[in-house]
Amino acid sequence: MRAYHLAALLASLCLLASSPFALAQHETGSDVFSGEQAFKNYCANCHGAAGNQIANVDLGHGAFRKPYTDDELANIVMKGIPNTPMPATPNMSKEQATQIVAYLRSRASQKDVGAGGDAVRGQALFAGKGECAACHRINGKGSRLGPELSKIGLVRTSDQLAVSLLDPNSEVQPNNRFYSVTTQAGQQVSGRLLNHDAYTVQLLDTKEQLRSFNKADLQQEGFIPSPMPSLRGKFNDKELADLVQYLVSLRGADKK
Ligand code: HEC
Ligand code: HEC
Repeated sequence: MRAYHLAALLASLCLLASSPFALAQHETGSDVFSGEQAFKNYCANCHGAAGNQIANVDLGHGAFRKPYTDDELANIVMKGIPNTPMPATPNMSKEQATQIVAYLRSRASQKDVGAGGDAVRGQALFAGKGECAACHRINGKGSRLGPELSKIGLVRTSDQLAVSLLDPNSEVQPNNRFYSVTTQAGQQVSGRLLNHDAYTVQLLDTKEQLRSFNKADLQQEGFIPSPMPSLRGKFNDKELADLVQYLVSLRGADKK
């Protein structure tokens, strides 16, 4: 069992060099994860966080290829699908498999915000009505104030992207946080925090200029909310779907 376990781990590491969870999952290996956590740890490296990374398999939206019962699904989760790359997970308890199934079932009722969206129309919205390029750069075009989005489709699911667009402050990546300083002379400057240490602060200000301040010269400094405007009320569902579909299509390789 142990040997098999290690072989499976190595196989999944080779397939998926990018999985940050591959090691942690085997170190803990307990039953305490919720279904979602377990899915992230054991399954998302192949299936993707949204469950639709493998061609013709969609785990996240209640669109299984067959009308499996919960027991059948739990069996697939524990034993894999013979003669396919879908592996058994030998140390998976029935209880945990059941939690994962419950999690997948719960996601089925969530609609995919990007569904039916059109990436080409989304691109036009990005450049036009959304004014996104005022803060974001894609394939060398646009501003550096906000995060670069050329590969955003590789690191965020459509659900996560929709959250970023509707509730910009709800989940800010640590290196995307905005910072504001007020100098002793009363000048206020805000921008993306690039770096700070005990004595200095460096920002990329709203004109995309690199600014450096000595902390001793500041009256005030601190994180401020994201300047990214929410699309709530500005974009309808169709426009949101188009924009999300465009962002999902940004994977760094093509020149979109
Ligand atoms: C090493 C990659 C890999 C891992 C890890 C993995 N899967 Fe899969 N899974 C696959 C592949 C590939 C298929 C399609 C197999 C086939 O050709 O039938 C699949 C198929 C499935 C199916 C059948 C879907 C359907 O519509 O018939 C389910 C359910 C499933 N996986 C759930 C999971 C769960 C839950 C986990 C985590 C415990 C997991 N998988 C981990 C690769 C993986
Ligand atoms: C005023 C500047 C500004 C505008 C305009 C703006 N954004 Fe942003 N955006 C930001 C900043 C700053 C962040 C990082 C902080 C955060 O997550 O809210 C961000 C974050 C994001 C993220 C999350 C990135 C990640 O790594 O998770 C996405 C996606 C995004 N913006 C897309 C858009 C789109 C699409 C538009 C146009 C509809 C837009 N933004 C308009 C400044 C802006």
